[in-house]
Amino acid sequence: MIVELPPIITIDGPTASGKGTIARIISNKLGWLLLDSGSIYRALAFAIINSDISVSDFDSIETLASNLEISINDGNVYLGGFDISEKIRTEEISRVSSVIASDYNVRKILLDKQRSLLSYPGLVADGRDMGTIVFPYAALKIFLTADISIRAQRRYNQLINKGNVVNITSIMDNIRERDERDADRLYSPLIPASDAHILDNSVLDIEQTLSIILDLYKYKFGPSYN
Ligand code: C5P
Repeated sequence: MIVELPPIITIDGPTASGKGTIARIISNKLGWLLLDSGSIYRALAFAIINSDISVSDFDSIETLASNLEISINDGNVYLGGFDISEKIRTEEISRVSSVIASDYNVRKILLDKQRSLLSYPGLVADGRDMGTIVFPYAALKIFLTADISIRAQRRYNQLINKGNVVNITSIMDNIRERDERDADRLYSPLIPASDAHILDNSVLDIEQTLSIILDLYKYKFGPSYN
């Protein structure tokens, strides 16, 4: 028996490569669901920081991950019913989420939560291992990257626009540290899937990046989208 699954587009890549923004626009355009998988790791980091669990106590973190009451609705992230969408965007949560994401059991526990979001008419999933581990059978896989100084500048602009007081050097250090940790970990490292389209958008704006991905989409799925 052949089971047909909803279509999936995966967009993986390093920190601040623009994958979240692009994934959101594409999911809106197609009317497909959006999975920002980083928000699940961030929600767990948020729960850890707001408990008395140490970031190195992986037994307790795994128990917390198993009981995590997380839901994602319309791009907003809820923990135990509370909207934590804005609260999980801090640099501290970025760092803690990347530390806990290196644990095999944590990843395994969070895998089902991510896969359970797959439904019709389709899913756009962004993260680090969407095309390699979570949805290896996705029809279209993109690996979006950009030069680190450009990614740091983009993250800086994002944070400044939200009224945060930030320093570009520490942002760059934070991105480099996270990239290295994500790429060097044993389980689900940040690497392009063998069948991913690698797209460096260092000199592209959002519209240009989007246009390339939508061309790939049309080539794969046919010409129709909203
Ligand atoms: O994408 P975002 O920056 O929100 O992700 C936060 C952290 O969660 C990343 O630095 C990474 O360590 C982890 N993550 C992951 N696998 C994913 C998504 C995020 O390991 N699929």
